[in-house]
Amino acid sequence: MLSTTPNIMQPAEEANNRSGTFAASTSTGQTASQTTTPANVQIQPRNRSHDITAALGGEWLADDAFLTAAFNGMSITFPAGEKFFIDAVRHYRDEITDPELQEHIRGFCGQEGFHRREHQLYNETLCEARGYDLQKLEGKLTKRLDWARKNLPPIQNLAITVAIEHFTAVLAELLLSSDSIMNKAEPSMRELWRWHAAEEMEHKSVAFDVFRAVGGSEELRIAVMRRATFFIGLELARALFYICLLYTSDAADE
Ligand SMILES: [Fe+2]
Ligand SMILES: [Fe+2]
Repeated sequence: MLSTTPNIMQPAEEANNRSGTFAASTSTGQTASQTTTPANVQIQPRNRSHDITAALGGEWLADDAFLTAAFNGMSITFPAGEKFFIDAVRHYRDEITDPELQEHIRGFCGQEGFHRREHQLYNETLCEARGYDLQKLEGKLTKRLDWARKNLPPIQNLAITVAIEHFTAVLAELLLSSDSIMNKAEPSMRELWRWHAAEEMEHKSVAFDVFRAVGGSEELRIAVMRRATFFIGLELARALFYICLLYTSDAADE
């Protein structure tokens, strides 16, 4: 599915063989590129803004309340999550010796920073329009991430980022496919989600490359992947459940 870079679920050796470049020593003894992002992919932050106020007041995706709630719920998790990803990757910036990977880290942080800003605005506008309590929606996730920052070793936080970036890239590929449900979205919302998805595809390997470059092990990555899968499901289900609950009580009041 992720066709341009190694699948992060594969063993390190196999991924190394496929990329042919990652952290391998050359015949002259120099360290080769630490990046698996293809040479023709630019990780370029695009400072876009989106006029989505009117769309967020209604069922903007396929005129369907559940699908709209599912994507709105996802958006709720993004600002805190993307801040966590930026911090986790940036922590290792000074340990990276490959200038190309350094450049990719800059691109990654720039892109996630713009996503964070746009989804923060999205979430505030959504909650204002629909009477949701944003603190309540994102409070548990924020606490969980703060706990991870304080209590987990930085390499583990980077492994969490690698795991979640994998899922975001899978979702991004689905959103950009020709038969994606996003074709049925209100145009301004489609533009926002596709902009985000395209940049997620561009930087999908950066956290993984940094994790490998600083010596992150496959054992840790796989163990964290298992736990992250559980918690991603939990956080998305929580946001979706809360939004659906409010939606149902709104409908009952009308
Ligand atoms: Fe993002
Ligand atoms: Fe990302």
